[in-house]
Amino acid sequence: MSESIPVAERLSAVKPSATVAVAQRARELKAQGIDVLSFSVGEPDFDTPEHIREAAKKAIDSGATRYTTARGTVELREAICEASAKRRAGVSYDPSEVVVSVGAKHTLFNLALALYDPGDQILIPAPYWVSYPEQVRLAGADPVIVHTSEEDGFRMTPGALREAITPKTKALLLCSPSNPTGAAYSGEQLRELADVAADHALWIIVDEIYGQLVYGGFKQKSIIEVAPELRDRIIVVDGVSKTFAMTGWRIGWMLAPEYVTKACDKIQGQATTNPSSVAQHAAIAALRGPWGPMEEMRQAFEARRSIIIDGLNAIDGIHCRIPEGAFYAFANVKALIGKTAGDKTLENDIDLAGYLLEEARCAVVPGTAFGAPGYVRISYAASNDMIREGLRRIGEAVGKLS
Ligand SMILES: Cc1ncc(COP(=O)(O)O)c(C=O)c1O
Repeated sequence: MSESIPVAERLSAVKPSATVAVAQRARELKAQGIDVLSFSVGEPDFDTPEHIREAAKKAIDSGATRYTTARGTVELREAICEASAKRRAGVSYDPSEVVVSVGAKHTLFNLALALYDPGDQILIPAPYWVSYPEQVRLAGADPVIVHTSEEDGFRMTPGALREAITPKTKALLLCSPSNPTGAAYSGEQLRELADVAADHALWIIVDEIYGQLVYGGFKQKSIIEVAPELRDRIIVVDGVSKTFAMTGWRIGWMLAPEYVTKACDKIQGQATTNPSSVAQHAAIAALRGPWGPMEEMRQAFEARRSIIIDGLNAIDGIHCRIPEGAFYAFANVKALIGKTAGDKTLENDIDLAGYLLEEARCAVVPGTAFGAPGYVRISYAASNDMIREGLRRIGEAVGKLS
């Protein structure tokens, strides 16, 4: 056999997605007939609501099967602007300030290619969503991790932001509510961060993909609402995946200054052209309502949040703050590190997640994957019965540790 030809050097620093790896391992065990409960997924367990599916079927039958404008149809971009104006008080966008992509992940990747040069520093508060640092690296720039603490509710403080900014800082990547912690910033907290950022020429990219999944009366705010004077530096990332249970349809977008959307349009025009024409029609139906099915899903998540947080806090050695949004519990498991299972010592959260998979047959993602050792992320995008059974198994497995 001839010598293999190496892949590109740019991949040497890039890690594969840890969340995808855990989900894959859980699937393998399931395929072997082992009854594994997967709490590792980042997608709603609900079906896409019927009126959205119907809109897609109608779109196919009426011939919406061809290329569209690369950045998405005007109709969808108008629907996005209307929906955004309802959610983000006092801020309106024009369809020319929107690019629709193949999911918000693709939107973020377009932004990385459009905005970051080698040597640029991109600030990422940890715990972070796994793709943020890797996309920065793929663009040749440097991720700079800003650690947050559980005591601060996993929210970056204005002081930490001020300290992290250097002349090389090009952007700040904020996620609220956050994957993996579920933590969300209040309007006041966002205002304080904006005050620090205002003194520097940097992009503020806010990922609001979980923005409509907030609970307990939490008032979701966008930084663009509280700091509209920074509008020419704020980029909002959003999509239909989580809110409308539409992960497989692959529709996400940015709201950004027109010259940024033009740059991303140029990239997308050479990379993928438009996102699926049929999915674009489905997204219009999602954004225009009715909103009842979405509210039902939100309420279901809210009820599950109580079950999982109470259940985790009842297990000796685990504690978990109450997240404001998203569908993840980010549990502190530091008290379990160093314990033994048979002849094996659990050295870290990765060992613990391995133990929970083998012993409790529950798949959770180690916090290390999100830049936060000592924690595990447990998705509650699962039925109440599955959550209760998972808690029972985890409690039993933890009880066996000595
Ligand atoms: C924080 C965050 N941003 C963006 C995405 C990407 O969503 P999508 O590409 O499905 O729109 C996800 C998905 O897991 C996420 O958790």
